[in-house]
Amino acid sequence: MKIDIVTIFPEFFGVLDVSLLGKARQAGIIDVGVHDLRDFTHDRHRTVDDTPYGGGAGMVMRPEPWGEALDAVVTPESVVVFPSPAGERFTQATARELALEPHLVFGCGRYEGIDQRVIDHAGSVARVREISLGDYVLNGGEVAVMAMIEAVGRLVPGVIGNAASLDEESHEGGLLEYPSYTKPAEWRGREVPPVLLSGNHGAIAAWRHEQQLERTRARRPDLLS
Ligand code: ADE
Repeated sequence: MKIDIVTIFPEFFGVLDVSLLGKARQAGIIDVGVHDLRDFTHDRHRTVDDTPYGGGAGMVMRPEPWGEALDAVVTPESVVVFPSPAGERFTQATARELALEPHLVFGCGRYEGIDQRVIDHAGSVARVREISLGDYVLNGGEVAVMAMIEAVGRLVPGVIGNAASLDEESHEGGLLEYPSYTKPAEWRGREVPPVLLSGNHGAIAAWRHEQQLERTRARRPDLLS
């Protein structure tokens, strides 16, 4: 999979060199290009924003540098993702869909957003999705894009050694994950649930499923409806 990121803070994405995603990059499974939006400006101050037409608070990102940056990376096969609190909600299903794509382009907005014509234009040359991480406002798209890349990247075949571990996670079966335990069997007076030591695989599976239901009912009843 190829990933291109356009941002005014390329240094934000240095963390993509570490951990599982770093290994996936070194192995050539995921190829990430980070592009500084200011490299596509032509004025001395490398200006990327201006005041909003119609008035109002804050600044809007100007279309010209965005147009040039997207011209440099977007192809008809790309899916262009603009993180935005006004977007569709990002879920595990979104991550699964994006993990199937050969090329993702992430356009990180700052300030009050990007001139809408940039998003409309991108939609005329490729598939575009405006995606929100959740119902809260971040200062810009960078942190949201990091979260999306981590959620998507780990679903790309070969990134996680034990693919079976992906099947039993929270949100994969529509339920939250069951609690996990490891050695020792007793710690600070707390015991591991005896069923997990029983060796009875049927009983263990039933207990885990009951735990999933109980947790989901208590913490995320919206997932059950
Ligand atoms: N940019 C600012 N807030 C955001 C959010 N909640 N999700 C995605 N991108 C954002």
